Amino acid sequence: MYLKKLYLRAFRNYLEEEVEFSAQKTILVGNNAQGKSNLLEAVELLATLKSHRTSRDQELVLDGAASGQIKALLERQYSVAELEIDLRRSGRRNLRINQNQCRRQLDFLGCLNAVEFSCLDLDLVRGAPDCRRQWLDTLLTQLEPLYAHILAQYQHIVKQRNALLKSLRQQWETGLALGEELSASLELWDQQLVEMGTRVARRRARGLARLAPLAQEWHGRISGGNETLTVTYQPNVIWEGDDPAVVHEAFLARLAQRRSAELHLGATVVGPHRDEVGFVIDETPARTYGSQGQQRTLVLALKLAELSLIETVIGEPPLLLLDDVLAELDLDRQGQLLMAIEDRFQTLITTTHLNRFDDRWRRSAQILQVNGGQLEERWPSEID
Ligand SMILES: Nc1ncnc2c1ncn2[C@@H]1O[C@H](COP(=O)(O)OP(=O)(O)OP(=O)(O)O)[C@@H](O)[C@H]1O
Ligand SMILES: [Mg+2]
Repeated sequence: MYLKKLYLRAFRNYLEEEVEFSAQKTILVGNNAQGKSNLLEAVELLATLKSHRTSRDQELVLDGAASGQIKALLERQYSVAELEIDLRRSGRRNLRINQNQCRRQLDFLGCLNAVEFSCLDLDLVRGAPDCRRQWLDTLLTQLEPLYAHILAQYQHIVKQRNALLKSLRQQWETGLALGEELSASLELWDQQLVEMGTRVARRRARGLARLAPLAQEWHGRISGGNETLTVTYQPNVIWEGDDPAVVHEAFLARLAQRRSAELHLGATVVGPHRDEVGFVIDETPARTYGSQGQQRTLVLALKLAELSLIETVIGEPPLLLLDDVLAELDLDRQGQLLMAIEDRFQTLITTTHLNRFDDRWRRSAQILQVNGGQLEERWPSEID
């Protein structure tokens, strides 16, 4: 797929700007705080309807404006689509594809696919488990937009169930038996939790099972085959196979086992919102023992695996967004990345200095200077 045009109005520090992409690689160059990451964020929103930097639309809208807009012209293998997101300070969004209003987020997701790779991604290895869950969820949403809907429903159930558990806690702590009505309503929530949690967990298991060998292969290539990467799903509820009935059963058993803990804490402690993903290099957890270089190699391998997996599932190469990462990779790893993406993936790259990276990246790239939310086409000779 190819992002042909991007139009931003009152988005972050962009007043009104349109850009036409004219090469497989576009380099956005500019000083700090000029709007490079903001532009990638707009593309991320088109792909996932989420930003990894904020969950509040009021931060996305230009300061002082009531609403903003992101518009894109996307060429896919067999179709062209105009995508539009209207953002409001209040948080209400309007989504349109080819001028047709999308009733649900689900109808918009899946049009544009993108893999983002930013310097923050080392958190994927070092950060708390929710970084890894979020990463996995973003990937799964792109593979199957319905997943976003399932996950949102699951999260809603956890929230409701937590509220109920909190109100039960007091009763339970004073030693009173739970009233019949409350017990029955907890059981109802249990069933919904199990139902939707099972759908989340099975999708995560299947997704990771497909990703793991690709990540291992890429990792082997980048590290010169000296190390072996193992990516494992470590679900909170453990089961064997892929039979939903088996997952249900395991889930219910675990809930029964943890009932007093849940009542004591007033919170749901069983379910995929407590899942973890393990990254192990040669039997050593990357999180605690990996050197910075090893951790970078790992993240790079994961990102390349994501690209290949999305390409296989969608049938078209997704976009690649590289935010500030090239300068952090040594020339060897840059070369690996370059070879891996060839010219197949449209790539948007941000950097503060063009000379930070390999000549080969620049040779065929379109270069856009970013200055205070304005874009200007440049030639390499003008900048060096
Ligand atoms: N809602 C908004 N309205 C106006 N300006 C905003 C808004 N949100 C962010 N900004 C501005 O955008 C700028 C940050 O842009 P961005 O994160 O894209 O920088 P960058 O070019 O990627 O810089 P760096 O090289 O440091 O990563 C800041 O100056 C910030 O004040
Ligand atoms: Mg930035």
